[in-house]
Amino acid sequence: MKICVLPGDGIGIEITAEAVRVLEALRSDGLKVEMENALLGGCAVDATGEPYPEETKKLARASDAVLLGAVGGPKWDVLPRPQRPERGLLGIRKDLNLFANLRPAMLYPELANASSLKPEVVSGLDILIVRELTGDIYFGEPRGITTEDGKRVGRNTMIYNEDEIRRIGHVAFKSAQKRNKKVCSVDKMNVLETTQLWRDVMIEVAKEYPDVELSHMLVDNAAMQLVRAPKQFDVMVTGNMFGDILSDEASMLTGSIGMLPSASLDQNNKGMYEPCHGSAPDIAGKGVANPLATILSVAMLLRYSGANEAAAVRVEDAVKKVLAQGLRTGDIWEEGCKRVGTREMGDAVIAAL
Ligand code: IPM
Ligand code: MG
Repeated sequence: MKICVLPGDGIGIEITAEAVRVLEALRSDGLKVEMENALLGGCAVDATGEPYPEETKKLARASDAVLLGAVGGPKWDVLPRPQRPERGLLGIRKDLNLFANLRPAMLYPELANASSLKPEVVSGLDILIVRELTGDIYFGEPRGITTEDGKRVGRNTMIYNEDEIRRIGHVAFKSAQKRNKKVCSVDKMNVLETTQLWRDVMIEVAKEYPDVELSHMLVDNAAMQLVRAPKQFDVMVTGNMFGDILSDEASMLTGSIGMLPSASLDQNNKGMYEPCHGSAPDIAGKGVANPLATILSVAMLLRYSGANEAAAVRVEDAVKKVLAQGLRTGDIWEEGCKRVGTREMGDAVIAAL
């Protein structure tokens, strides 16, 4: 398997280093992987003037999988939009047609106290958010800020065609078949026509999966239910923007966004794997960031693009073991546990492997 590694900016560099070391440890045990680094985000803007440069594009297209740290930082927020790091991220998602974003939120029993919710509300939590990633208001045209009748007007377009909805629907139902066989589709059909179509198409797709139970929820209610009774959910499927928001919310149920991996897949299981969190400029370079979300993203990489379930489980078990040993980075630390830095956490996972 050929993996394109994009550390990106901020803590992306530190956490990706640990994830790469995990892959190297597996390689010395016989896993066949090749890794090559490239630039994405702010570092790419600094080096080439573009957030998703041609060279990165070539390497990413030629690879079986992409491992990404995080992009962005205040330094680049002043640039024109096309040169911002986030555009690089959206660019690579679109370029590689990574329309299916899987964001699992599961609570490790050891972290029940790290959640801001009561342990009994979150214990045993295991949700999969399936977020559409290449459409919606993120990419819809027309967009921009113009002047009309002497007034500035900001505009974005929320748009989905039925094919885009159908293909993410299939991903959600297939995922549910391997889990608890429930899909909750999240929309805002009481106000937005785009999401009326979303609901209609989900109902059509559901007919092909009689073993899976489909329910619908309006996004405002879904946001509330996630903190009220999150264990009612198995798979949640939703559009790009609602999925962005709900997945951050779900991450906090698990104690820390520093624990959440993600996979972004195309039709053929080529994928990009990244933590759900950002580049955390406030702690960048200090060696304190939690590398577990990125290491767990390696597990997803092995599972989906590598079709190597055994190796995936091995990485996940190593993470569980390290948590059971009481090792914690600052974001998940509690009294009685051992506070460790990024590198030490990586070392512990590799030892547990
Ligand atoms: C995410 C991030 C990105 C998004 C940003 C960095 C563009 O928040 O992956 O959830 O909105 O998709
Ligand atoms: Mg987000």
